[in-house]
Amino acid sequence: MPDNKPREIAVDLLAWYDSHARALPWRAPPGANAADPYRVWLSEIMLQQTQVASAKPYFDKFTTRWPSFEALAAADDAELMAAWAGLGYYARARNLLACAREVAARGELPDTEAELRKLPGIGGYTAAAIAAIAFGRRAVVVDANVERVVSRLFAVEEPLPGAKKRIHALTDTITPETRAGDFAQAMMDLGSGICTARSPRCLLCPLREGCDGFASGAPERFPVKAAKAAKPQRHGTIFWLTRGDTVLLVRRPDKGLLGGMRALPTGPWADTAPGLAGAPAAAGWHLLDETAAHGFTHFNLQLALATAEAGAHETAAGEWWPIADIGSAGLPTVFAKAARIFGRE
Ligand code: ADE
Repeated sequence: MPDNKPREIAVDLLAWYDSHARALPWRAPPGANAADPYRVWLSEIMLQQTQVASAKPYFDKFTTRWPSFEALAAADDAELMAAWAGLGYYARARNLLACAREVAARGELPDTEAELRKLPGIGGYTAAAIAAIAFGRRAVVVDANVERVVSRLFAVEEPLPGAKKRIHALTDTITPETRAGDFAQAMMDLGSGICTARSPRCLLCPLREGCDGFASGAPERFPVKAAKAAKPQRHGTIFWLTRGDTVLLVRRPDKGLLGGMRALPTGPWADTAPGLAGAPAAAGWHLLDETAAHGFTHFNLQLALATAEAGAHETAAGEWWPIADIGSAGLPTVFAKAARIFGRE
């Protein structure tokens, strides 16, 4: 690599960012003082597994309802989980609350990567992003967008995920001493708007000249990926137990998939359809012809849908929720999908 390549990349990218930065609600404008650490932290947690466009309305809702660490620390757990519903990866919401409470107790968010990493829900990537974006510290920030940009800039032939270490080291070589937060966010913007996965728009790219991927003639080949194993298929049943114009909702155990979320009752997940195992009451269950499907990170789930009507005085562990108001229960997406199907029956 020519010695001046890293410096030129940073200079060209920051110049591009000065006129092309996306205006996002958690950001300070390019070159400005760092943004509010609470807003940076909240956005980075939301953006861990969620696209910018999907995270934005949640970010607005959260910052209106809970504008500071102190306000969020005082939030009711169930209210927060319901507000998070639809964003997925619910351990993030539980960690969010735990982290806000720790920060409120200590008075402020720490400003170094090492201290940030000790907080719930903050791993290596998030600690680096917060240190750079909220506190202006030089930190090497590598998310999936950055991984793609860097693997193209240096035409990294080693496949992911094995190449992660090398890509991190290469990102280190191009990260400038100053404006590290702007640099990280410029890389993200370049990755999402120009150096896109399928058809990179190289003619608009400020880094084209020094890009080995562009020079190769096939930048879209990078990052090279190792073949993925197919996701396992699992099966389950969702129960829709009505009593008059209400339906039974339960809270899922804190540990495990969708932990702590309000939900429709389910039986066990199994390798073959478990039928009515785990049904909440011994009523006359009826299985619908229609089923629901949902993809989780580590498996796909096929769900049978069972309905029954409970007697007027029947009790069950959970809440009887007005069916007409099911949209405000804060159900995770898989249950919201099922509720729409049950609602049509
Ligand atoms: N993805 C993760 N963090 C981001 C940020 N600060 N701006 C844009 N996309 C992001």
